[in-house]
Amino acid sequence: MSFEKLSLVYFSPTGTTRRTVQNIATGIALPLQEIDRTAVSSRKQPHHFSSKDLVVIALPVYGGRLPGISTEFFAGITADKTPAAIVAVYGNRHYDDALIELKNCAIAAGFMPIAAGAFLGEHSYSSKVAANRPDADDATAGNGFGARFLQKAQTLASATMDASGLVDVPGHFPYEKPVVNSGITPVANDNCIDCHTCVEGCPTDAIDRQNPRLTDKDKCISCCYCVKVCPNDARHMDDPRILATVNRLETLFMTRREPEIFI
Ligand SMILES: Cc1cc2nc3c(=O)[nH]c(=O)nc-3n(C[C@H](O)[C@H](O)[C@H](O)COP(=O)(O)O)c2cc1C
Ligand code: SF4
Ligand code: SF4
Repeated sequence: MSFEKLSLVYFSPTGTTRRTVQNIATGIALPLQEIDRTAVSSRKQPHHFSSKDLVVIALPVYGGRLPGISTEFFAGITADKTPAAIVAVYGNRHYDDALIELKNCAIAAGFMPIAAGAFLGEHSYSSKVAANRPDADDATAGNGFGARFLQKAQTLASATMDASGLVDVPGHFPYEKPVVNSGITPVANDNCIDCHTCVEGCPTDAIDRQNPRLTDKDKCISCCYCVKVCPNDARHMDDPRILATVNRLETLFMTRREPEIFI
């Protein structure tokens, strides 16, 4: 069976998940559609996929789970037994129950998750942990994963697409950890020049338009986009709990982990 197009559906505040799925797409020679559901407005758009589509669905790992916005991410997305590759991108600690949660969400939306990958991205909280990843080796792994996903989809489609093709992934159900909802926001200092870059790119519209030094702690998901993007180094995570986490990550989780593929 031939597929008509490949869609990349992802959430990626600091860009590593986006780069990972773009690497995967290099292994799949089909017309490409990117559906970036990082912005609030993009998560309100409905999308439907048929059995002629191939889809890669990817989110970062937050606290061993999917980010809390994953409910919004999947709202309005429907599929009709569409073969999907599910991808969790994590910052060199672990992905814990995120892949199995992603599998369950994808099935609930109507997808057939037939391939899965846990890939590495530079940690949102520390540029020293999984620094500069995905790198060239991750790109090669992504390309190979894409090719194997396409091959499996073609093999299954020529028979019947049924539950026997679903991929097995590690993880617990019921999930062992709660969804991360720390209420910890970055703080802005006097370096802020009101350029609004952080306001425009915040994935939850948590930063005040009139005064970007103010952040709504009920909306903020601690994604660190604003910290990384600020051109004037005006936003920082200085909460002691985050600093302790960074210290732990930079002490215990520096040994390079490699992508894991499940097919
Ligand atoms: C709130 C939060 C929680 C995170 N929890 C984990 C985790 O449990 N395990 C891990 O290895 N990385 C964790 N990370 C790191 C991200 O999964 C990783 O940096 C990912 O590449 C970010 O994706 P993005 O660039 O698409 O935003 C966390 C990051 C954030 C912001
Ligand atoms: S990106 Fe930095 S300088 Fe620009 S508005 Fe935000 S905090 Fe201020
Ligand atoms: S305010 Fe919070 S949610 Fe918005 S970009 Fe900054 S860390 Fe992410």
